[in-house]
Amino acid sequence: MRAFLILVTLTCLADAQHQALMDYLERRLLAIEDRISVWHEQTNRYATELREFKQQMVAQIETLDKDKETLRTDLDSVGTRVDRVEREMDYLETQNGAQPCVDVDDKLVEQQVTVVKEKNKAKYAKATDCRDMISSIKAMKILKRVGGPKGMWTKDVGSSSGKVYVFNGTDEDTIYEFGSVRDFTISQGTSMAKTVKLPSPWRGSGHTVYNNHAYYVKEGKELRLMKYNLRNGSVADSAVFPVQDHVPVYSLTPETVIDLAADEEGLWAIYATKETERHISLAKMDANTLDIEQMWDTPCPRENAEAAFIICGTVYVVYNTALPSRSRVQCVFDVSDMVTNDDAPLVYFPKRYGSHSSLKYNPLEQLIYAWDDGYQILYKLAMKKKLEV
Ligand SMILES: *[C@@H]1O[C@H](CO)[C@@H](O)[C@H](O)[C@H]1NC(C)=O
Ligand SMILES: *[C@@H]1O[C@H](CO)[C@@H](O)[C@H](O)[C@H]1NC(C)=O
Repeated sequence: MRAFLILVTLTCLADAQHQALMDYLERRLLAIEDRISVWHEQTNRYATELREFKQQMVAQIETLDKDKETLRTDLDSVGTRVDRVEREMDYLETQNGAQPCVDVDDKLVEQQVTVVKEKNKAKYAKATDCRDMISSIKAMKILKRVGGPKGMWTKDVGSSSGKVYVFNGTDEDTIYEFGSVRDFTISQGTSMAKTVKLPSPWRGSGHTVYNNHAYYVKEGKELRLMKYNLRNGSVADSAVFPVQDHVPVYSLTPETVIDLAADEEGLWAIYATKETERHISLAKMDANTLDIEQMWDTPCPRENAEAAFIICGTVYVVYNTALPSRSRVQCVFDVSDMVTNDDAPLVYFPKRYGSHSSLKYNPLEQLIYAWDDGYQILYKLAMKKKLEV
């Protein structure tokens, strides 16, 4: 019986111990579960954050990609432009002076050569002993930008008055006269100028000022040359230029039907007619009476010409492309036959803006007064003697 009691007691004790153990384990498990659930929660939160982060990154990468794409497109277009400029430069560089003067149609050439010979037969009697020809452009100076894209500015080519004349536009009637180049440069626009109103509007940008007279072509049906006395404001003389079916002299400056120019030798008219439609013609004028003294057909084509200037009886025709690139002298014609295209240097103009609507040589200073897209530019020339190759 005692033994039984002990057994029961032992069993009870064992039960109690077991219970305590179970309780303990239960508590531990609960604690572990709690911690697991906390981890779980944290992991979930991290995962969400990670996802959000990833989404942000994807979005940013997408914008970056887009930016990169635009950059690439931009670069591509810049590349294309550089290519085009390079191609143009190459093309220009390979064009030598002689090429554009070559005619495609042989028969036409023969015919024209005879005509030219007939017309040019009379030897030109030089008025002076000047033998200068251009060798290069030494420097350029941009003085100002006044007026519209097309126009003409010049000093009085035949006198040392120093006065500067601005013919803005291609069909106006008011000249701006400045006392000097300095006045022109420092003037606010045209505020320092005296205005000279001509009796009729001019046409194109081929005028000249020579010995206190403005020579210009009158706007109208017939080609009338006007000689206007700038001293006392009167028309000194006028004459109809005797060509039928005139066409614009330069294909890139179509407003100009006659380009008047004055050099050491006096007054010249550069023009073109239907008869010699593809080439430029030249006439020597008497500056006093507006008589025509002699005429020539030059081998210089009108196509892609933008302007021309005359030095010592040699015409230098300046060419460009419709999409303006660098202008260059690419055809020359000398009335005294001392300069041919072969010995004329291929002269490139420095950087430019649009297209030269006029180039006026001043023999007293050996400068060219140029109008390029509204900019008034001076080009300083380096000269050499004709026959000195
Ligand atoms: C020059 O001519 C252009 C038109 O070709 C005109 O718009 C401009 O006002 C003129 N400027 C001056 C100063 O006369
Ligand atoms: C203007 O001057 C010229 C010569 O200098 C003269 O022949 C002409 O008669 C003058 N005209 C007027 C309107 O004064």
